Amino acid sequence: MRYAGFARNWNYEQIKGWYEKYKKRLAKYGSTEIQFIIRLKKGTLIGESGIGRLRANWSCRNYKTPQDKLVLMTDVKLAKSFWNKRYGTEAMKAIAQYVFTETDADLFLVPPHRDNVPAIKVYEKAGFKKTKGIWYGYHMIYKMNKKDFEEVYRGAK
Ligand SMILES: CC(C)(COP(=O)(O)OP(=O)(O)OC[C@H]1O[C@@H](n2cnc3c(N)ncnc32)[C@H](O)[C@@H]1OP(=O)(O)O)[C@@H](O)C(=O)NCCC(=O)NCCS
Repeated sequence: MRYAGFARNWNYEQIKGWYEKYKKRLAKYGSTEIQFIIRLKKGTLIGESGIGRLRANWSCRNYKTPQDKLVLMTDVKLAKSFWNKRYGTEAMKAIAQYVFTETDADLFLVPPHRDNVPAIKVYEKAGFKKTKGIWYGYHMIYKMNKKDFEEVYRGAK
């Protein structure tokens, strides 16, 4: 979780506080993102992934999104007791499938920290490819477009 941004080491009260604000934002502005809850088949809640839409002509160091494309960005987080059981990879694959079959997205991005080896492995196994982009600090940009998705998910590769 050291690479996972603002929510690291949160206790229950902080999580609850964030959730209350999230609900207020939703009520005021409507849904600006797609929020996934990851659970096992038997129902156990194990993690989450929130997808946000990038504004038009989004750019960072060494990377610019193509014009007039719908670009989504996400990451994935699991509770620690569920790490290293391939659930992260399974979840990312399911999410990519959702993005390229249920939305009009042309491009899907993830920003792992360069030292977050498990996250990078998950994203590569799910079909993301490294770009030269650096979002902030040492957070890199990995991308998947529809063609990458087709190759990995429809057996073309
Ligand atoms: C990133 C995360 C979702 C990965 O989920 P997961 O279910 O553990 O991932 P998987 O089991 O599918 O794959 C992890 C891979 O990393 C490898 N791995 C785990 N720890 C490692 C380490 N310290 N060094 C090198 N490889 C490591 C595993 O062996 C596995 O590789 P393999 O498939 O070749 O065996 C999980 O670690 C997590 O929630 N981390 C905290 C939040 C976070 O950092 N999210 C990403 C933000 S970009």
